[in-house]
Amino acid sequence: MSTATASPNEITLPKPEGLEGVVAASTALSHVFGEEGRLVYRGYDIHELAGKASFEEVAHLLWIGHLPTKAELAAFQSKLEANRELPPAVIDVLRLLPDDAAPMDALRTGLSALGAIDSEHFDETPDLDEAIAVAARFPGILAAFFRLRSGEQPVKPKAGHNTAQSYLYQLFGKEPEARHWKPLDTYLVLLADHGMNASTFTARVIASTQSDLISALTGAVGALKGPLHGGAPSKVLDMLHAIGDADNVEKWLSNALDNGERLMGFGHRVYKAEDPRAEILREMAETASDPAFFKLSKLTEDKALQMLNERKPGRRLYTNVEFYSAAVLAAVGLPGDMFTPTFAVSRSVGWSAHVLEQVSNNRLIRPQSQFVGPTDKKFSAIESR
Ligand code: COA
Repeated sequence: MSTATASPNEITLPKPEGLEGVVAASTALSHVFGEEGRLVYRGYDIHELAGKASFEEVAHLLWIGHLPTKAELAAFQSKLEANRELPPAVIDVLRLLPDDAAPMDALRTGLSALGAIDSEHFDETPDLDEAIAVAARFPGILAAFFRLRSGEQPVKPKAGHNTAQSYLYQLFGKEPEARHWKPLDTYLVLLADHGMNASTFTARVIASTQSDLISALTGAVGALKGPLHGGAPSKVLDMLHAIGDADNVEKWLSNALDNGERLMGFGHRVYKAEDPRAEILREMAETASDPAFFKLSKLTEDKALQMLNERKPGRRLYTNVEFYSAAVLAAVGLPGDMFTPTFAVSRSVGWSAHVLEQVSNNRLIRPQSQFVGPTDKKFSAIESR
């Protein structure tokens, strides 16, 4: 029998659970000031940008470092437009997927296929042209799968559309209304980057091995999919549908907490105050969404905050970005299973900006682990085990 284990003293480095508080990279792109409930993109508070700057202006800010002039924006938009159409072979790969595949799985697959099919384009060290080329195609991959799964043919992107318009146009095959694309544009601004979150960390780790941009973004999509990260908003919608009406709010939430469940759309690793994006999305939801649905959302939020405060005193659990993303994206006309993929459309910009930053001053990201297993086992031949 084995008795020896690795000495716990062998590695004396700190080992915070879930890497909480560990600084994994230096970045000038964005920062979450958790105690203050502030989010900053390259020096601009998110309140400075939301509803004022377009998603393309913010992409320019993150990728290139400053808000564009009119001429710079026009040239930048043309570049995005020129890169939107998918290679037909990527659509052929999406055709092979079952109709009931999850859109995040389709995005991950389509992205990976794009890397293999267009490997000459994406084989180099990641650069700005590649970042534009891949982010511009995120909406097309999702829209193509969305249409194929309901028996419709993909729609080619149309000239003159911004990202939000192009995404809705490719999804639904008709000119998007301003009441839909404008809130979507602001949503895309709000979600574009967020410090060293799990999917961004994933992308930077992959980039640090000198792998290619598409591999980094494909990994990031996989990380975003989980409900503890980007997979929560459709679950918020499920929760609100399950609650159904005002009379049921308290009972439903109480049951969920009694069963040890987490309330989707609440809590955050870094924010110990309200997520500023939640505040902006709440205002947007009030204007954009069905009044009855907004009323139920607000009642549920108020009750959930009260209960979390009572049951988890000192934990400082507040509404996070996902809670009102659900109402806003539903108002835009998207079904629940397209919420997290739409988050990915936005975050593709932040991910690729981080990859570019990582490769500009790269060192392989390779942390340590604390070994807690035995060290003195002796081999025995298979016949005698
Ligand atoms: N509902 C109920 N309790 C919650 C909670 C939630 N949404 N979020 C955190 N808590 C509780 C935990 O149960 C834990 O309590 P305990 O110490 O008494 O067991 C405490 O708060 C701390 O939670 P912890 O898991 O350590 O926080 P974390 O920093 O690891 O997790 C999240 C952060 C976002 C993963 C977590 O808040 C969560 O699961 N939220 C719900 C999912 C969600 O909205 N995800 C989107 C994130 S933007």
